[in-house]
Amino acid sequence: MPAHYLGIDIGTTAVKALVVDEAGEVAAEAEVPLQLSTPAPGWSEQHPGDWWKSAAEAVRSACADARVREVSSIGLSGQMHSSVVLDKADRVLRPAILWNDVRTTAQCRFIADRVGKTGLRRLVGNPSLEGFTAPKLLWMRDEEPRLFDQARTLLLPKDYVRLVLTGEKATDPSDASGTLLFDVRKCRWSEEMITGLQLDPSMLPAVLGSTAITGKLTTASAGILGLPEGIPVVGGGADNAAAAVGSGVVMQGAMQTSIGTSGAVVAPIERPRVDPHMRIHSFNHAVADTWYLMGVVLSAGAALAWFRRALAGYNGTSPPYEELIAEADSTPPGADGLTFLPYLTGERTPHADSNARGVFAGMHTGHERSHLARAVLEGVTFALRDSLELMRRLGVDAAEAIAVGGGARSPTWRQMQADVLRVPVVTVAPSGGAPYGAAILAAVGVNQFGSVEEACRAWIRPLDRIEPRPKSAHAYEQAYKRYRQLYPRLKRYFADWAQE
Ligand code: XUL
Repeated sequence: MPAHYLGIDIGTTAVKALVVDEAGEVAAEAEVPLQLSTPAPGWSEQHPGDWWKSAAEAVRSACADARVREVSSIGLSGQMHSSVVLDKADRVLRPAILWNDVRTTAQCRFIADRVGKTGLRRLVGNPSLEGFTAPKLLWMRDEEPRLFDQARTLLLPKDYVRLVLTGEKATDPSDASGTLLFDVRKCRWSEEMITGLQLDPSMLPAVLGSTAITGKLTTASAGILGLPEGIPVVGGGADNAAAAVGSGVVMQGAMQTSIGTSGAVVAPIERPRVDPHMRIHSFNHAVADTWYLMGVVLSAGAALAWFRRALAGYNGTSPPYEELIAEADSTPPGADGLTFLPYLTGERTPHADSNARGVFAGMHTGHERSHLARAVLEGVTFALRDSLELMRRLGVDAAEAIAVGGGARSPTWRQMQADVLRVPVVTVAPSGGAPYGAAILAAVGVNQFGSVEEACRAWIRPLDRIEPRPKSAHAYEQAYKRYRQLYPRLKRYFADWAQE
């Protein structure tokens, strides 16, 4: 029987499973939606048990569609930073606190005071931001001390699923680097950071390579998935890193823009590099001895989803995304003077401000729903441009952007990206995203290829290329200037409003 590889991605809105054949084609894929709970404003939680249930359902469905009863190996990817805390019997102690949860401002201040900006830069290469994992653990220690007393293990989402699949506790460098407890330069847990925050280092899992075999499918999990026991499970990667692998963005000079729930600009670098102001994240890639710089837009696809649900629908029904985007396309670049800041849940890059909120500015009676829709698309794209500008200052000079995620499916939004970012925007096939990257890591893990680069060269091909249009680029430049002016003027109001 020809070899197949399985990639599983633990996302925020869904778990995806993808079966890839020996030629790198997607034989089948399945997606099972996830619920998100918001017990208080700014909180965002999911139950790890739901990830596993959804993963099992997605795997069964994808394998059935592909008519596959066996795979050669399994790769995992998942939302970054979200904290899974287990007791001594490996029971989940509380729902995971997710990457887009902003309850931990006090703990971020505590970390910054204790370790200092220079310490953070030196030890972990990143600032203390609400989204990262360490502040979540400290929040639990401060606010739920009895539960925290029982905590013995900290895992990331995909690594919780690994534990269920294999019985092993492990992570990979790309996910470990998002915890704020990992020395990104030396690629190992930072003892100084961990002890400095008075955390117990034995809570942290082993860090193995993204293509290393971290364990094998147990009899119990094999029974649930309908697969034979003993299948190797490789380290895998953080979703942004795995998506970059899945689109062939694995070497310096390449760049990826992604628009999913969040948005990101990812640029691999061959030596660790930290932004002196730490406005851009520096993480380990899912490719050995490679790092990447990343800017993150917290609400990207999520901003359009919000607009569609809250503002665009009539009589309880929401128009399809295609309809909204087509409407937006009927209006001119710059949305006739309307500007949208997509900071619905605060913003990471470049502002690192959890108090920031969404704004429509410049509305007039000539504006229709179509202009509002365009302003939302433009606001998200300008937020990506903000990240890219910071990265350009750090020497990123990519000749093109490979666009991935739900937002890349729309040619209108891709053209907007090309015009706003001023680089050609390329799509690749297969366009499997993070779970496809996880499947590549799985294939490399069992020596189907000698390296991740080789696998990417063999399996991924360019599909479509959109060039920037000078006239629109000029119009967007004006609109981008307006966009850039808004946040600095509103910043102090956001801070005041957060105190109310
Ligand atoms: C990256 C980040 C998000 C999540 C989404 O730093 O927080 O992109 O990884 O899954």
